[in-house]
Amino acid sequence: MVPWFGSRRLGGTRSQTPLQPPFSFPDGFLWGTATAAYQIEHTQPDDWSAFEREVMKSGSFAQLEPGKAIAGHIHNLGSYSEEVRRKKTDFDSRIAEDIAMMAAMKHNAYRFSIAWARLFPRPGMSAPDPEGLAFYRRVFDELEHHKLTPVVTLFHFTTPEWFWEAEAGKRGWDRADAIEKWEQFVRAVIENFGARIPIVCTINEPMVYVYAGYLEGIFPPHQKLGGPKAAIPVIKQLLRAHALAYRLFKEDAARRKGQVLVGYAHHMRAFEPLRNYAPLDRVTARMIEQAFIWDFSDAVSTGILRVAATRHVEVIPGLAGTQDYVGVNYYGRFYVKTNLLAPTKFEVLPHDPETRAEDRPNDLGWASYPRGFRRMLELTGQRYRLPIYVLENGTAENPPDDDDRERQRLLVENLRELWLARQYGADVRGYFHWSFLDNFEWAEGFEPRFGLVRVDYQNGFRRIPRKSAALYTRIIEKNALEPEVLAPFGL
Ligand code: BGC
Repeated sequence: MVPWFGSRRLGGTRSQTPLQPPFSFPDGFLWGTATAAYQIEHTQPDDWSAFEREVMKSGSFAQLEPGKAIAGHIHNLGSYSEEVRRKKTDFDSRIAEDIAMMAAMKHNAYRFSIAWARLFPRPGMSAPDPEGLAFYRRVFDELEHHKLTPVVTLFHFTTPEWFWEAEAGKRGWDRADAIEKWEQFVRAVIENFGARIPIVCTINEPMVYVYAGYLEGIFPPHQKLGGPKAAIPVIKQLLRAHALAYRLFKEDAARRKGQVLVGYAHHMRAFEPLRNYAPLDRVTARMIEQAFIWDFSDAVSTGILRVAATRHVEVIPGLAGTQDYVGVNYYGRFYVKTNLLAPTKFEVLPHDPETRAEDRPNDLGWASYPRGFRRMLELTGQRYRLPIYVLENGTAENPPDDDDRERQRLLVENLRELWLARQYGADVRGYFHWSFLDNFEWAEGFEPRFGLVRVDYQNGFRRIPRKSAALYTRIIEKNALEPEVLAPFGL
């Protein structure tokens, strides 16, 4: 329905352009996929496995509507066997096979995370666990063998379980020794693998961690602090952790006379007004974008943390300029809906029920929005004047015949927007699809399937590439989007 005073939505979901394909990418462009330790590896003694145990004990895995995570629940967890819960995708037994598959698919890079709890599974350890080190050594060896560039994440949502034991009455990131413990882990990664890591991602999606773990309570540590102001202490700790890791990696590279690029992965949703004709929806959408996206990344750039909608302004020592590139994770748009009678009580919707056909919501109900990808890349490029790596982009879809049309379409549409952003000055140097394999999607459990490669959980974790995997290979081989790749999607 279009009201007389303006339209609900402006401009469609993809960019118009007079430019004609092929759309080529530069030599040396990184093409790969991204994963995270907890989502694909065997369980380690960390905060998430403690949460899973709790969920299984209390039976908090009711069939809920996908995409509506609720605190204390993991969607449908009880429908998966103990073996699947413990082994996730069983990457541990298939390191060589999986990385060979990436290479056969022509990927030239791979983003993965090193689990803190795998290197330091027990409290008070003075050196990393040799088995944990041996595990990641095998990953690096296979990547080297197949000439894939490693991009390594240090913190992707999980911490050792012992980190949450009370230390002088404080737990986790609130402990007085939190940063010291983090430093021990970062130093262990550097000592053992520093020379093999050209690109570091210190923290994955700090604001998602803060939002899900401290405001919504759907991730450990399951807090529901009342509003963004109360989350400032954890935001500061994450900024300090990032700045420290940046410094340690740079110092190590300088000592070795080597090079390393250090940054972090930022979740950049496009926040849009649900009703473009409603000024309060528009203003609130911009405010949320500022709070959720730009506050953190501006702080990393300037060294000053300002928190939107509060008066908080604070200098964080050693933080200014601690990124060599900006890591962008992009999954589409969220709509902001306000109510004039209660202006501070807004809703954030994953798609608009009135424009379903245009939104094409995925299996989690998330609206796709390729044009927003270009917008976020261009804004990022203009704001920070740094190289950009897309560290995640993908969707959840699991058709029975593995012909994942929506993933294929989005892959092509999003890469076209990325290419356009490059033409308009955004220095994007690599693209990592989320994800290589289906995996454990946090509070949503195993149900949403993000893989280019399907995991058959009923049959020994068998890998079955979906059609999108071949399409991605074709794009990588040509290092371009050719007319034949674009045409089936009306582009
Ligand atoms: C996270 C991933 C997650 C993906 C899909 C990102 O927020 O970094 O761990 O699986 O999005 O939801």
